[in-house]
Amino acid sequence: MDAGCGRGGSMMMAHQRFGSRVEGLTLSAKQADFANRRAEETGIAAHVHARVCNMLDMPFETGQAAGSWNNESSMYVDLDDLMSEHSRILEVGGRYVTITGCWNPAYGQPSKWVSQINAHFECNIHSRREYLRAMADNRLVPRAIVDLTAATLPYWELRATPHWSPALKKRSSSSYKDGSFQYVLIAADRV
Ligand SMILES: C[S@@+](CC[C@H](N)C(=O)[O-])C[C@H]1O[C@@H](n2cnc3c(N)ncnc32)[C@H](O)[C@@H]1O
Repeated sequence: MDAGCGRGGSMMMAHQRFGSRVEGLTLSAKQADFANRRAEETGIAAHVHARVCNMLDMPFETGQAAGSWNNESSMYVDLDDLMSEHSRILEVGGRYVTITGCWNPAYGQPSKWVSQINAHFECNIHSRREYLRAMADNRLVPRAIVDLTAATLPYWELRATPHWSPALKKRSSSSYKDGSFQYVLIAADRV
């Protein structure tokens, strides 16, 4: 289950790589239509499907999913509400994964550019500690935390080139470099 699936890239990848049957949720009808059209075009519509739905109120039975994830979509919602809903739909032993930017509490408060990113993207970047706490409170036990910051830096540097909103992106790439902002993958088991 892909929570905040956007145009469906991760869903398609999961099916192509692992043969998974994937349901995606997005708030955007335009994105869901795009994802379903692509699934039709590539002949995988029987396995991959997107719908417009709030991921804080998932249309699935308790314990129905073997795996679920958020790919850059957890910063739009309250983490406790989100993790409790993932925990509900996952079977015991199921796997939850989030890939997200987060601020690093080792630096105290979020740096001022985090507020600018929040305003720009109309989101609320959480701290790494908030992720781990919300998981722990909802029977999701982290198995791996992979720091992808260095791997994502070239992308942010590319976005700092003149035609991509340079002021904002420059600040973001320097926060990536000084460690106050991290891009992480956290994989957790539903216990
Ligand atoms: C930055 S996009 C990421 C899209 C996709 N996961 C990707 O990696 O390309 C954020 C996505 O989160 C979705 N989203 C935000 N809040 C949501 C909510 N409460 N329920 C469902 N989807 C939500 C948006 O509709 C959008 O598809």
